[in-house]
Amino acid sequence: MRDRTNALLAAASRAPVIPVVSLDDVGFAPVLASTLVHAGLPVIEVTLRTPHALDVIRAIARQVPDAYLVAGTITAPSQIGEAVDAGARALVTPGTSARLAEALASAPVPALPGCASVSEALALMEHGFSFVKAFPASVVGGPAFLKAVHGPLPSLRFCPTGGITAANAGDYLACPNVVCVGGTWITPKDALAARDVAAIRTLAEAAAALPRAAGAAGAAASGTSVG
Ligand code: 3PG
Repeated sequence: MRDRTNALLAAASRAPVIPVVSLDDVGFAPVLASTLVHAGLPVIEVTLRTPHALDVIRAIARQVPDAYLVAGTITAPSQIGEAVDAGARALVTPGTSARLAEALASAPVPALPGCASVSEALALMEHGFSFVKAFPASVVGGPAFLKAVHGPLPSLRFCPTGGITAANAGDYLACPNVVCVGGTWITPKDALAARDVAAIRTLAEAAAALPRAAGAAGAAASGTSVG
């Protein structure tokens, strides 16, 4: 578990932002993924919220091996096998029941389980997770919440998502316990519908250039003091 968490931390620390992609256009998926990787965002979350999401993951895994592909919106243990078989190298959940936490802890790939409170974070730590998703980050208190949690839970690292934008991402990334942030703002619906690669590249390059708190990125990269 520890080794797998550290592998995910190492991947997540490669860029300040994980683009969260909800896409049903399988034909566009490899072009999109390649654009994100070349813009400096190698970790890409594809949500399992569209009818062809697994095909999108499959197409990217096959054609863009440089992408570190993460399956998002995992809400039930039954989705784990499907996502891994499609080519996902990690799993993300919006929130985590005890049953889901158990399944993720024994999954064949690392997981970033979602939580929205200190009690939920503690339950995940009991399952061995030291790097978690805070969701919906802007609703549960934003950067102030994450800074407050750092006091009692200094070893826990976060990837906040939900309500993060180009304008406020820097506030989250300045938190000492934030490794990276996730969000859909890099791949807006209209740009995906129009297959607007230029617009997405511009958003992705700006996101990749965001600075992070040295502490969180450093700890993640070295795999030290992260539980
Ligand atoms: C997620 O799945 O992580 C969120 O839906 C992303 O939220 P956003 O659309 O507010 O970025």
